Parts: sequence; C-alpha cells; structure tokens
Amino acid sequence: MLVYLNGEYVDSSRALVSVDDRGFLFGDGVYEVTRALRGRQFEPERHTQRLRRGLDGLDLRWPFADEREPEEIGRRLLEENALVGRDAVIYLQVTRGAAPRTHHFPPESTRPTVYLAARAFSAPEELRARGADAITHPDLRWARCDLKTVNLLPNVLAKQAATAAGAFEAVFTRDGLVTEGANTNVWVVADGVARTHPATHAILGGVTRDVVLELAASAGIPVIEEPVRVDALWSADEVFVTSTTSDVMPVVRIDGRTIGAGAPGPVARTLYDALVARMG
Ligand code: PDD
Repeated sequence: MLVYLNGEYVDSSRALVSVDDRGFLFGDGVYEVTRALRGRQFEPERHTQRLRRGLDGLDLRWPFADEREPEEIGRRLLEENALVGRDAVIYLQVTRGAAPRTHHFPPESTRPTVYLAARAFSAPEELRARGADAITHPDLRWARCDLKTVNLLPNVLAKQAATAAGAFEAVFTRDGLVTEGANTNVWVVADGVARTHPATHAILGGVTRDVVLELAASAGIPVIEEPVRVDALWSADEVFVTSTTSDVMPVVRIDGRTIGAGAPGPVARTLYDALVARMG
C-alpha cells in the first residue's frame, strides 16, 4: 500500500515516523477521516475547514501548500492504490513533529509530521438493516472535544467496553446528558422531532452531522440542537448515530433495553437514504 508521509509517496512498510514524534509521545496532533466513494471524496471542504480549526486550536501551522492539497494527495492515494472504483476512507494526520521530549512546544523550525493513507472500506450494511446495539458510558474526556485530536484514549476505552458487551457503539453521558458516541454523533427522535447535542466544545462537530442537519431540513424533519437527557433514551421512538464510517446507523438497543419498536425507524431510514443520494 502506498501512503503519503512528509511530502513523499512511499510503501507503508517504508513509511517510518521517529520515536521522538510528538504524536507518539504526547498525542500532539490532529486527524481527519474522509470517505471516498468511487474516487469522489465526500465533503472535502468541510474536512479541510475542520482540519484548519483543529490545527488552529493546537497552535499548529497549516502544513500543506494550499487549501486543496489534502484533497489532491487523497486523490492520488486513491489512484495509486486502485481504490477509485470502490468505497474507501482516507486517513490524514498532522502532528507537531519530532523533537527532543519537552512538554512545551519544540523549536519553531520543527517540521510537522504529515501522514495520509487510503484504504478500502466496507459499510456495515447488515448491521444497518437490523439495527445496532449501544451501551452508555461516562464521558471522561477533556473540555475541547470539538478538536479532532489523536488523543483518543477515552474513546478507545469506551469503544472497547462496547465491543466487549457485543455492542456497536458507546454513547457518552455527562451530567445526565448524552453528548455523543465514541466515534459518532448521537440523535434521539421523539414525537417526530430529532434532537442532537449542539456543536459546542463538548462534542466533535461531525461532517456527517452537518450534512444530516441539511438533509433533515430538506426532508421536513424537525431537528432541535440541544442536549438530550439520558432518561429520554428510554422513551425515544428512535435513536441513531452518524459518522463518516457508519453513515446513519439506527440503534435499537441501549444497555440491553429496547429503543422504540426495537427495529430501524423511519427517520433514520429517510436520512440514510438521503445521505446515500447525496454521496452519489
Ligand atoms: N470519527 N464524534 C467523534 C468523537 C468522532 O470521532 C467522529 C468521527 C464523529 C463523527 O464525525 P464525522 O461525521 O465527521 O465522521 C463524532 C472518525 C470517523 C474516526 O475517528 O474514525
């Protein structure tokens, strides 16, 4: 597999990052995951904007030639790895680079580490048809979850707890409220109205979430961006999660308790169909 590392396209076996890299030592970096369907990247501008916000948030400079370069590198990786005809994801990561370990920033001259890779992806369609299980899990993350940093340990532990329980996703809860999933945004439907946490510092503003907000508006599905109480899950008609790698995934059981009718609901289905149409 050919990957991009610091300006070069190299085989992944030869793509080496220093042990002094601050991504490795401190989780000092940001990342993006972009979907590409049959060679066409989905919402590249939104990913670029979020990457820029993340870099700004970490006081990291933009490491590419221009705004379009991440998409262009992604396109070349799709081509070189014979992924143009397929469903794929492009992973991008930028760290503060390699320098002797100090907590404070390294010298200005330290070059960020820039890594991109594209891989074939297969969407979880069987699970979507029957609906997924989730668990609730305490949200123990920091106060800037809006930055897509590679500090994912709380997410990793939550996802592992879900996996160990035979579930697809962990729904983070904080102070009695649902924030988001371990790597998804969470939506709760009751009486025809969908609710999802507002895009504050408490969640990652998903690209899929943004698109689904637009699709819901077009479909005449009312959405309120407000936090949902954990109790409201138990009386919801539908719960679903959204992300680059799950699209719109209905959740039919949480902590073993049946949600709504215990089957994928009409709002999730409508929004999934609209998303598929939008992805072309
Ligand atoms: N994660 N919330 C969190 C905490 C996430 O990690 C993600 C995505 C989302 C959804 O964002 P988007 O719609 O832009 O994919 C929400 C990616 C897919 C990942 O870590 O693999």
